[in-house]
Amino acid sequence: AEVDHSSPKDEFQELLQTLEHQTNWDGQRLVKYDGIWLLELLFRPILSAQKYFKAKDTDVILSTMPKSGTTWLKALTFSIANRSVFPIDRSPLLTSNPHKVVPALEFNLYWGKGEENPDPESFPEPRILSTHIPFEILPDSIRESDCRIIYISRNPLDVFISQRQFLLENKIAKDAVPLELDEAFDMFCRGITSYGPFWEHMLGYWNAHLKNPERVLFLKYEDLKGDILSNVKKIAEFMGFPFSAEEEKQGVVEQISRLCSFENLKNLEVNKSGNVLGLMKNSSFFRKGEVGDWVNYLSPEMAERVKNIMESKFQGSGLTF
Ligand code: A3P
Repeated sequence: AEVDHSSPKDEFQELLQTLEHQTNWDGQRLVKYDGIWLLELLFRPILSAQKYFKAKDTDVILSTMPKSGTTWLKALTFSIANRSVFPIDRSPLLTSNPHKVVPALEFNLYWGKGEENPDPESFPEPRILSTHIPFEILPDSIRESDCRIIYISRNPLDVFISQRQFLLENKIAKDAVPLELDEAFDMFCRGITSYGPFWEHMLGYWNAHLKNPERVLFLKYEDLKGDILSNVKKIAEFMGFPFSAEEEKQGVVEQISRLCSFENLKNLEVNKSGNVLGLMKNSSFFRKGEVGDWVNYLSPEMAERVKNIMESKFQGSGLTF
């Protein structure tokens, strides 16, 4: 639906009232838009991004389902693109949280109204920007331009646990009493989660990648954990900033990987305090950084349920976990 943002209240409120609502397990309000569950808090910024964002061919858009490795991908891509501007030992990542360094469409660029927002036209190129918006409802200009999209996916069981711990830690809906784990898990499996259903999110970007691998890179958190060096090289090539033989010899790939590692970022002063938008603690973006932590929370039956969902939803797509 077209929304006129010059009179934001009326048309936006009208549209909002026509949509199905749910309360997420942590008490935050969700609205269903085009089959996708969105946090009501983010609905206006997402519609504004759709309407106003103009992609450039040189843009790099980082897309993720929340808690799939966004922070890591931001640090890596920023470091890769800016390695000739900032030497590693003077990287802005040493003094700023990765979410400050790489802005997000719906959190930073279109969070406020109209002129309160920064002007992305003024950002230096290449612009690296992030979003959680599903492929199908990305701003048209992203899908129509020649910009590059990097998607990072993660085992949904780990995503669910990571998200659960993150939301319990940040308590965004201040007065709400969170639902128990099994109820929250049931909602996740029924697709009711921020930007969910998770399988639609993953499949949207997976299919976009299959259709146009030069424009859409599809990564897995687990692969980066398994072999960061080859993935850093792969990301750099995809972004159009491949490492020279000389750089490889000097160990630049290792240096960037180390700078962006979980241990390094987690232990920086800047990431031990402060917050993002007054809502999310910087420290909450660095919890465990492990593969398979779900076994400490979820039963084999719960894991089986997600496995079955993935098998049926991903059937024939080539996407596996
Ligand atoms: P856990 O909660 O399992 O520890 P996002 O960045 O998309 O919000 O995802 C957060 C998850 O990525 C958290 O997972 C967090 O610990 C992990 N993470 C953050 N920085 C990381 C890094 N540099 N390397 C590996 N994992 C990282």
